[in-house]
Amino acid sequence: MSKNLFIETLGCAMNSRDSEHIIAQLSEKENYTLTDDLASADLILINTCSVREKPVSKLFSELGVFNKKKKDGAKIGVCGCTASHLGEEIIKRAPYVSFVLGARNVSKITDVLHREKAVEIDINYDESEFAFDDFRTSPYKAFINISMGCDKSCTYCIVPKTRGDEISIPDELIIREATRAVKGGAKEVFLLGQNVNNYGRRFSGEHEKVNFSELLRRLSLIDGLERIRFTSPHPFHMDDEFIEEFARNPKICKSMHMPLQSGSTKVLKDMKRGYSKEWFLERVEKLRSVCPEVSISTDIIVAFPGESDEDFADTIDVMKRVRFDQIFSFKYSPRPETEAEHFTNTVDEDVASFRLTSLQNLNTEILDEINATSLGKIYRVYFEDLNKDYFVSGRSDNNIVIKVKGSDELLGEFRDVKITAIGRTILTGEVVA
Ligand code: SAH
Ligand code: SF4
Ligand code: F3S
Repeated sequence: MSKNLFIETLGCAMNSRDSEHIIAQLSEKENYTLTDDLASADLILINTCSVREKPVSKLFSELGVFNKKKKDGAKIGVCGCTASHLGEEIIKRAPYVSFVLGARNVSKITDVLHREKAVEIDINYDESEFAFDDFRTSPYKAFINISMGCDKSCTYCIVPKTRGDEISIPDELIIREATRAVKGGAKEVFLLGQNVNNYGRRFSGEHEKVNFSELLRRLSLIDGLERIRFTSPHPFHMDDEFIEEFARNPKICKSMHMPLQSGSTKVLKDMKRGYSKEWFLERVEKLRSVCPEVSISTDIIVAFPGESDEDFADTIDVMKRVRFDQIFSFKYSPRPETEAEHFTNTVDEDVASFRLTSLQNLNTEILDEINATSLGKIYRVYFEDLNKDYFVSGRSDNNIVIKVKGSDELLGEFRDVKITAIGRTILTGEVVA
């Protein structure tokens, strides 16, 4: 008899892909079907994130709610990055939790399910060649992991402690997965890793040397695959070969995530990011010189310990010079097992809030100016989502979200769309061809 699975996914795209892997294993091997009704679920999973403090405290309050609402006999499991770093403590604080499964142990889901109070959190467990069954949330776009873990040691970041050392998935497996997805109807693949342009640094066994540019070249040979996206590349690894391949290869979408973190060379050094303000600006210049249509997004942390007004002014300066098309901005949040956790020169909370607000206000101003230039322009849109009120939305090659009036007939299709109205996060248009 089929059983019901409720799964909540927090965090980044890698977690979303891990959830797809978990769903695939549970439906193929254990006969589970997805539900969004918590009360009817036989198994409730939370795939957690611990990159900032808030999501962690949210976890325990949410677990309490799930425990109250679940039906008798239903199991609760905690997966993902918080599972990796809190491990057994989760069961101590929430004894009704049946198992804890770390972010690098996803393939063990069908095993922990049958072992009461199992805790599997080995952060260097090697799943790089594990043959996961297939499940995709979207038939139009396939998320594909190309590496696991991260070998960097950014001083603020917990990820290396939750996802372990970096290991690349052999390119032939990635190409096989992408080919299967394309045969299944996906015209776009979205490659995932913490550090995608460091691809090929280490494989689990003997393997031919293949770097990220070469992986992109090989993937783009797949017939029927029209768009390739990826996240996150690291500015330090944006060498000329990579930037030129990005610009030259027509299948690679012209949208680049360049996580700046800070515009101050001093702060970048304290963060151990491996590049300076000047290096970052020079890489942006190089990218725009070979690919003028590129849109650039970024991540910024404000109020890292020791960040002075001058340091913050450097971040604002980079914002003004680069004019990012999208930013994800955060207040620094101290994380356990990181170097910066022990830094004592913390920034006052009100200063941190002020900096975050100024940064976001500046970004809004810039975005309004950028968006205003889109009116009347024509973009090639790949439609992926059916929205309310007969709207269908998709993305342009350079990652602008665009909606048009239409039906599900547009889903999975490319159309030229002329922009007729501007919004802050989404543009509206009409299909012209
Ligand atoms: N591998 C990616 C980042 C993954 S984490 C990269 O290097 O770009 C996603 C984002 O969360 C980071 O880019 C950073 O901006 C933010 N972040 C990570 N740790 C943080 C912390 N301790 N406090 C605030 N933001 C943090
Ligand atoms: Fe974290 Fe830095 Fe690795 Fe990104 S590159 S996951 S920020 S340690
Ligand atoms: Fe969060 Fe883990 Fe991703 S900490 S951002 S879910 S790698």
